[in-house]
Amino acid sequence: MLDILPVTGTTKIVGVFGHPVSHTLSPLMQNRAFAAMQLPYVYVPWHVLPEDLPAAVAAVRALHLAGVNVTLPHKAAVGAFLDEITPEARLFGSVNTIKNDDGRLIGYNTDAPGFLRSLQEQAAFVPAGRRLVFLGAGGSTKPLVMQMLLAGAREISVANRTYAKAAALCRELTALGLPAAIQPLPLDLDSAAFGSAVAKADALINTTSAGMYPQHREPPIVPAAFLHPSLLVCDIVYIPRRTSLLAAAEEAGCHTLAGYGMLAYQGALSIEIWTGQKPPLQLMLDTLEDAIAVV
Ligand code: ATR
Repeated sequence: MLDILPVTGTTKIVGVFGHPVSHTLSPLMQNRAFAAMQLPYVYVPWHVLPEDLPAAVAAVRALHLAGVNVTLPHKAAVGAFLDEITPEARLFGSVNTIKNDDGRLIGYNTDAPGFLRSLQEQAAFVPAGRRLVFLGAGGSTKPLVMQMLLAGAREISVANRTYAKAAALCRELTALGLPAAIQPLPLDLDSAAFGSAVAKADALINTTSAGMYPQHREPPIVPAAFLHPSLLVCDIVYIPRRTSLLAAAEEAGCHTLAGYGMLAYQGALSIEIWTGQKPPLQLMLDTLEDAIAVV
């Protein structure tokens, strides 16, 4: 394996702003990619509190950082401090990648296209014309569900424990005016509407934090009895790699897609935005898989 290039006066610095940030796997993955590409970049974590976000963004300019990733809880707030936001990131209300273009800071969203590419390339799933059920209506849900609508999904159900949040998100989705049927649902296993949406669906996508380490021993958010073999079950939770939901899906004979794929693809797209070069995706996937395997 190639080592990271020596740090010199011309090394370009990138990294991630998050709170918390201590568990991030991005530095490991991104530095390995930069080393394999033999590019003079170093990727570091920065712990940024919400009240310090404006100062942290100002530091991107002041320190001439090449760019940064932005993770929870800053993805919705950071746009206000940038010079430009791509139309997709504006639509999604979420920026996870900033490029410093000679002092002009441009915000992108690579999470949603990263998820789409993971679906297409790792699970051979094309959303156009399909019926999808999303679990969750938090900040992570909106970019993914909008990306699926833009990719031509025919029917979208958003099921959330707090129904009002699902209803509010579905109102926003309907306002896009895309030709798809959109319905909010209670995330309630006793609800006939929820059961029938899952029974008809082509894919079930968990965007809640249920099942995430250290709650990984909790029962699956949707048990195997609800799932059927023609369903693709995706989890954006990636620690552990095989969540209790994915285990239930395997038990039910479903195809599954683990969350680390989205993490690798969004990171690869960020590197492409910063460097203009395609990073070694398989190396990034393998790096994450090895790092996650210990949980
Ligand atoms: P984020 O912005 O990271 O998505 P969030 O806004 O707190 O975080 O949303 C987390 C999502 O996971 C929500 O949809 C939440 O449901 P509620 O809106 O009812 O709070 C969902 N969630 C978290 N833990 C859950 C659990 N154990 N069961 C069901 N849903 C859960």
